[in-house]
Amino acid sequence: MAYGRNIKEILYGGDYNPEQWPQEVWEEDICLMKKAHINIVTLNTFSWAALQPSENNYCFEMLDKIMELVSKNGLKVCMATSTGAHPAWMAKSHPDILRTDFNGIKRKFGGRHNSCPNNPTYRMYAAKLACMLAKRYKDYNNIVAWHISNEFGGECYCENCEQAFRQWLKKRFKTIDELNRVFHTSFWGHTFYDWNEVVLPNLQSEHFLTDNGERTMFQGITLEYRRFMSESMSECFQLEYQEIKKEMPDIPITTNLMGFYKPLDYQKWAKEMDFISWDSYPEPTDTPAETALRHDLMRGIKNQESFVLMEQTPSVTNWQPYNRLKRPGEMRLLSYQAVAHGADAIQFFQIRRSIGACEKFHGAVIDHAGRDDTRVFREVEQLGRELNQLGDVFLEGHTPSETALFFDWDNWWALEYSAGPSIRMKYLDAIRDYYTAAFESNVPVDIIGIDDEFDSYKVILAPLLYMTKPSMDEKLRKFVKNGGIFVTTYFSGIVDDHDLVIQGGYPGKLRDILGIWVEENDALPEGEENSFIYKRNLYPAKILCDLLHLEGAEALSVYKQDFYQKMPVITKNQFGQGYAYYVGTRSNSEFYHEFMKDIFSEANVLETMVTPKGVEATIRIKGDREILFLMNHNKESKRITLNNDYGDLLSGKKYQVGNSIEIEGRGVFVLLKQIEKCL
Ligand code: GLA
Ligand code: ZN
Repeated sequence: MAYGRNIKEILYGGDYNPEQWPQEVWEEDICLMKKAHINIVTLNTFSWAALQPSENNYCFEMLDKIMELVSKNGLKVCMATSTGAHPAWMAKSHPDILRTDFNGIKRKFGGRHNSCPNNPTYRMYAAKLACMLAKRYKDYNNIVAWHISNEFGGECYCENCEQAFRQWLKKRFKTIDELNRVFHTSFWGHTFYDWNEVVLPNLQSEHFLTDNGERTMFQGITLEYRRFMSESMSECFQLEYQEIKKEMPDIPITTNLMGFYKPLDYQKWAKEMDFISWDSYPEPTDTPAETALRHDLMRGIKNQESFVLMEQTPSVTNWQPYNRLKRPGEMRLLSYQAVAHGADAIQFFQIRRSIGACEKFHGAVIDHAGRDDTRVFREVEQLGRELNQLGDVFLEGHTPSETALFFDWDNWWALEYSAGPSIRMKYLDAIRDYYTAAFESNVPVDIIGIDDEFDSYKVILAPLLYMTKPSMDEKLRKFVKNGGIFVTTYFSGIVDDHDLVIQGGYPGKLRDILGIWVEENDALPEGEENSFIYKRNLYPAKILCDLLHLEGAEALSVYKQDFYQKMPVITKNQFGQGYAYYVGTRSNSEFYHEFMKDIFSEANVLETMVTPKGVEATIRIKGDREILFLMNHNKESKRITLNNDYGDLLSGKKYQVGNSIEIEGRGVFVLLKQIEKCL
């Protein structure tokens, strides 16, 4: 479920900021929106200063007018609460509302995401504003969702947060002895005797800067700070959420997430949100797999339900070093890719381009020329027409994945705060290695977390599983025992959920499942490689080479060089009815393709379709309807042979199994599989 009120169409629109414009322009905007088939606007995203001009004075007249106008014109509304940036007067009269940064410097008024999440004044005023908005607009039946704040993020190291951190630790660990244990404070004599001795971990305390970025000397406290800050912001979300729910219990509530945004544990956030919405801004160099991975992550954090694409640019951003235009057809292609991976609404930032401040060169549906004959407007209009034509054919449809890729924020934080063995070891690189191999073979993947069920999948990939949380090994043991295939990699099973090493040999609790013992890890500097042969081909071993011994597993490949030549690097272990694989190093994409092909064939996981390189085939299923999205990410056209009878939902044409169709560069087909009728 995404937007409320039983929507039977793909909502299409975006962030609309009429408060930046004189009223004459509003009518013009409405005409242009209608022309582009826009049917939803996100309103009121950054209007706190207008809504509350001083401490005791609220003013809703302008928003009233805007609501009347958009409602009268049949637009649906996703109503934001405006709490992503506080008013200047509030910072002046309540300076403790301002954040303190990582260096320990207290900020002055400016920017956005600028309120301390643990500040009682901010929390009180934010919740009050949400409450007043909900009370005032609850009778509008075109409000299909509430949107709290905007892109929650950042961090704070102020005194308020320090106090709150101590309270949070106390609640979590109960005794100071337990706190000392999990932080391992016997190291360097950091023992705490009183909760008030605990300070926030930043550049003034446990952190320091190196040429390779910031580091921490105590991973335990830093990891807890990350958990605490993510939860502090989630509490702010929840405070506004509760106020709105009291007034409009049936309308779903969201906030816009940002894909792999490291500071916030979205798997925890998702539990508090009614539906997921997120903002997709791929960089020009991102591969189609990287964009698809982010959609799959966002779909997966709320039990594989569909999501709303809350923002994308129709053409260009302003904040990248080089803000390349989306090429003709590219916005359409990326929109269909979002839809194919679970989006039930497509929205833009923004409807009309601002004239001042840092986003005046950010793309918009209506640009500074204010015309409807721009390339961008025409592309927006065409997509609007098509989405309108598609109706609800795949709305709330699901992705039929038999493969799951495990992802976990705590693991990400802990792994990358680790001092050693290698600064080149990045969690997302390992995730991308495996995801890309599946994606490029058109094998659908769900991204799952620790609280998801494992048993409905045939294959579970958990690369770089450095941290094994309490229930993880048991869930995996059961999964493999019952016939599942589990794949993990180098530097896995090392620590528990406090980043304390699991003793007795790596990979800790996963040893019996994998049937190996990892004795050492060799971190190779840039330019140095080892190698191995897998199925007669030579592949590189990079970044980290685990030196391991077999304890029941068989070796599929061994290292070719160095003193650990002939030691196993890839192993396979039968465990119950299933198999557990260990890939003890990082290799290249050719290897991942080859290896994953074997894994999928052993698990009997089939690809959606065989397509030419760069042509993606993704399915959404709704009831007994199967919709195939064919998307050509190449600039040039490609030919595809269809493996079924299909009806083209955009052109109305019918195709038969074996027909070959031409898909133009950046082109898209949306095809409905024709089910054989029983005679
Ligand atoms: C984010 C924000 C928007 C806008 C866009 C610009 O996604 O939510 O307010 O700043 O970025 O790309
Ligand atoms: Zn703070």
